Amino acid sequence: KPVIFSGIQPSGMLTLGNYIGALSRFSQLQDDYDCIYCVVDEHAITVRQNPADLRRRCLELTALYIASGLDPEKSILYCQSHVSGHAELAWILNCFTYMGELNRMTQFKDKSAKHAENINAGLFTYPVLMAADILLYQTNYVPIGADQKQHLELCRDIAQRFNGVYGDVFTIPEPLISKTGARIMSLQEPDKKMSKSDLGEGSVFLLDDPDVIRRKIKRAVTDSETEIRFDPENKPGVSNLLTIISALTGESIDSVCAELDGQGYGALKARAADCAIAALEPLQAEFKRLMGDKDYLMKVQAESAQKAAYLATKTLRKVQKKVGFAARP
Ligand code: TYM
Repeated sequence: KPVIFSGIQPSGMLTLGNYIGALSRFSQLQDDYDCIYCVVDEHAITVRQNPADLRRRCLELTALYIASGLDPEKSILYCQSHVSGHAELAWILNCFTYMGELNRMTQFKDKSAKHAENINAGLFTYPVLMAADILLYQTNYVPIGADQKQHLELCRDIAQRFNGVYGDVFTIPEPLISKTGARIMSLQEPDKKMSKSDLGEGSVFLLDDPDVIRRKIKRAVTDSETEIRFDPENKPGVSNLLTIISALTGESIDSVCAELDGQGYGALKARAADCAIAALEPLQAEFKRLMGDKDYLMKVQAESAQKAAYLATKTLRKVQKKVGFAARP
């Protein structure tokens, strides 16, 4: 079976954007692919984290993976820091990545503007660690939101460069970016993506209470017209709500527009809130249940890490040999 790999940072509570662009798609893939889903805690420390919070969020994200429908018997659900191969391969790949390539990464530019007090080397080489994540498992497909596309392209370039020197060591991965919902926008600033770090009213969080979800969507910024039409350029707020409905229901945007035609923005928002609540309520219930059984979650992490480490080591040993590291005694 082809291999799927993806990761989510435990750097804050996940948003509806993370859910639509990534998490909700993961479980649909687990029957047809060998799926590996990682809690990327090593990436998270590129921005300063409170240790207790980070530890708790790693466990929460494992619970969210399972609550979203992932079955630990079918998919590997583990923490990046439990498998040392990620950091080891990242070092080697650092030596096959140019400064100029990393300088072009838009996420680095955004993050270094936002965290001007801590522009560390890890933030700069973040995409190389991400490439290591993916390449360690000979990944075929990577389900991600649109904001990770540039990182995936760099990953492919690094892999191709390495293969060009040493032969076919790495599988060249391809992104899986959905047509609808690859970039969910902030409810308050619909020209910016919805993000974990926006603690105001712009982001819906996966564990928000239904009344909070309804309130945030009700207050979503729209425009001064009344027509419900998909036009991201001129009507970003309305188009974002249409996208949310379409992505959560599987209905086409055209049919959502036809259904709501002439009903005004109040009806559009009510529909979007209904869809978000219907998707998140069962997830929240299952999440709560799982968090009551921390031993189970730790067991999933441990067993998954063992499976991941086995696969990672296979690739890592091959790479170490290719670059000329001394044979192991
Ligand atoms: P992260 O933690 O920022 O986001 C996790 C996933 O959610 C997607 N996403 C969105 N999709 C739609 N609309 C949005 N507003 C939105 N915001 C986020 C992201 O594209 C991502 O798929 N670098 C990655 C984590 C990572 C990774 C990897 C991913 C590390 N190693 C290897 C894939 C493969 C990140 O910061 O995701």
